[in-house]
Amino acid sequence: MDSREFCVEKIRSDFPVLSRENRGKPLVFLDNAATSQKPAYVIDGICEYYRSYNSNVHRGIYELAEDAEGLYHRARRIISKRFNASENQTVFVRGATEGLNLIAQSYGSQILGKGDKMIVTEMEHHANIVPWQILCEKIGVTIIVCPTLPDGSLDSEWLTKNIQRDDVKLLALTAVSNTLGTVNPVEKIVNEANSFDVKTVIDGAQCVPHQTFDFSRIDCDFFTFSGHKVYGPMGIGVVLGKSESLEMMSPYQGGGDMIEEVSFEGTTFAPPPQRFEAGTPNVAGAIGLGKAIEYLDQFDMQQISYHEQNLLQIASSGLSQINGFKEHGTTQGKAAVLSFTIEGIHPHDLATFLDAQGIAIRTGHHCCQPLMKCLGVDATARASFAMYNTEDEAALFVNAVSKAVDILR
Ligand code: ALA
Repeated sequence: MDSREFCVEKIRSDFPVLSRENRGKPLVFLDNAATSQKPAYVIDGICEYYRSYNSNVHRGIYELAEDAEGLYHRARRIISKRFNASENQTVFVRGATEGLNLIAQSYGSQILGKGDKMIVTEMEHHANIVPWQILCEKIGVTIIVCPTLPDGSLDSEWLTKNIQRDDVKLLALTAVSNTLGTVNPVEKIVNEANSFDVKTVIDGAQCVPHQTFDFSRIDCDFFTFSGHKVYGPMGIGVVLGKSESLEMMSPYQGGGDMIEEVSFEGTTFAPPPQRFEAGTPNVAGAIGLGKAIEYLDQFDMQQISYHEQNLLQIASSGLSQINGFKEHGTTQGKAAVLSFTIEGIHPHDLATFLDAQGIAIRTGHHCCQPLMKCLGVDATARASFAMYNTEDEAALFVNAVSKAVDILR
């Protein structure tokens, strides 16, 4: 697709759902960190696959199967190109959660051993904590936790000191916090980790819609993300892995399509990425994700980021006028995620009020209970912006929250 100038009104017209109502009011969708909406280009791509190409892949020798396989491989090509990875380094999974489970089970189990330590950070999503806990309990590895500072940044001194420990073997880190919006200095941290031979696993779920990520340049061991947060379908995601790591890993699941040869005497496995893609793959999902990446490839990410930052600024400065408002996560250059609490008002009550005005936000612990503990709250309200949100929507949101405060307090 040709490159396109950023124009929010034109972009909005690409997303059919944005023209529907919510509780009888125009939908204002500010829950983009939970999932993004899908452009017609993605929806049509999935429909077209089921209408005209549906067939299993890697099995049939008829034309229809070859066409389906061609589309599936094309999707992998488009995705790997965006992240500057090779197709062999690009593994399809169900989403970032499955990606992190795969990496923990198939890679972590090989490079970690009894008595070792690994680092996770206090701001991680449960998906980048629990898979490691399951593994580490089994093999006798201790997880140590990098603290979050009051502004929502990582304690870089703690990190630098602990990366140097001889017994630390792995670091699992989010690129962008889903709750605080903090953009972690991944490249710097990976460089540091690499110089002490600490392996790095990056949860990219929240960074992919807002930033480019050059997998080869950043030089982390693994990077994973979900399709549905980057304007693609649910149920598909990607793990990017260094070739030498993927090649040494044993399979995550067994079944068809991931083997070289099976006998009752023993089975040999296909090379990556097939080794990690057991069973019939989510072909439609992969094609849809390829379409989403093509859609995003049209735009200059700087322009998207500039637009989203402007919306964040409108919302954040507007809400800061409210008595008792507290923004959680105030680092410079954070992603357009605004988590907040307002004294005397429960986030769920606020979200219910906003819902009646057509405005969708998320409330709760955002799958970050350890972070909530550190923030000293049970829940926050969170508005998260995407490329199709407008200045008017940000202003409407501020007005609606102010009204809610007048009524609820
Ligand atoms: N991880 C998603 C969120 O932050 C679901 O809302």
